[in-house]
Amino acid sequence: MVLIAPSILSADYGNLAEEVQKLETAGADMIHMDIMDGHFVPNISFGPSIVKALRKYSKIPFDVHLMVSKPEEVIPWFSDVGANIITIHAEAAKHLDAALRQIRGYGMQAGVSLNPETDENEIKYVLDNVDLILIMSVNPGFGGQKFIETQIKKIQACRKMIKGRPIRIEVDGGITPQTGALCKRAGADILVAGTSIFQGGNYKENIKALRDK
Ligand code: DX5
Ligand code: ZN
Repeated sequence: MVLIAPSILSADYGNLAEEVQKLETAGADMIHMDIMDGHFVPNISFGPSIVKALRKYSKIPFDVHLMVSKPEEVIPWFSDVGANIITIHAEAAKHLDAALRQIRGYGMQAGVSLNPETDENEIKYVLDNVDLILIMSVNPGFGGQKFIETQIKKIQACRKMIKGRPIRIEVDGGITPQTGALCKRAGADILVAGTSIFQGGNYKENIKALRDK
């Protein structure tokens, strides 16, 4: 069964604790947290202190997506704030293999993300240090963008590449019940969604629609 990871990038930032609780009650499997540094992506979101503050309001895993230029420097800041998964971008890490080991060294799961233009072969030799592959189906930086269809092929290619390894495939950006269904069919394990979960305000129904379609 596919897991649903709502992105709080689309939440009410004035009521984040309540939003996280509402998402958990509505059936979210994990909370996706988009960390943006204004450098790797043209937007700034929030940092480790917010992750830490939210930890006491939720029991489900925190899935932290680092859209930052120097992940090696930033990973330690997230080592003791309650993150369960830390995902870094293959395009941003100077020494990707070392950075993934660094995340695991802190006892967290290591994720690697690929921008839409990045070939999956970029991560072929680091798979033994990867717990999750995050395929960006929009250009990172903003919610509410349109799903980039070419990424369906990448999901299939990653599914093939990981073979029997216990690596989960997550897709992020422009996920609706329709595009989510395509991702699931291609082999995705986790769907990240912001806009389609927050729109209309019925989180339970929106999460169910993503899961069931
Ligand atoms: C984009 C972020 C996504 C974003 C998804 O850079 O990584 O997690 O919140 O938002 P939607 O679902 O609106 O495309
Ligand atoms: Zn994200």
